[in-house]
Amino acid sequence: MSEPNLLQVTVCMGSSCFSRGNDGRAIETIRQCAETAGLVAEISGHLCEDQCTCGPHITIEGTLYSNVQVSCIPELLKHHLARGKEEHDG
Ligand code: FES
Repeated sequence: MSEPNLLQVTVCMGSSCFSRGNDGRAIETIRQCAETAGLVAEISGHLCEDQCTCGPHITIEGTLYSNVQVSCIPELLKHHLARGKEEHDG
């Protein structure tokens, strides 16, 4: 992770990903889940990267996740953070 309690998340805001869930709901869910984990989400958006067929896409700390449904975001973040902790703890 970048800073101790900062979680960098990038959300594809291209029309395909946006219309399939990468809208305000996804952003708010990410923000809330990060907060629950004691983190501050630094969320930015990017334009379509021509991978629409497997979207919506969310990138957490440089790891790209595809087919991310809003309902899956809490579990995805938990999984990502647990994996990062494992790697950090050795
Ligand atoms: S809109 Fe997200 S990859 Fe195309």
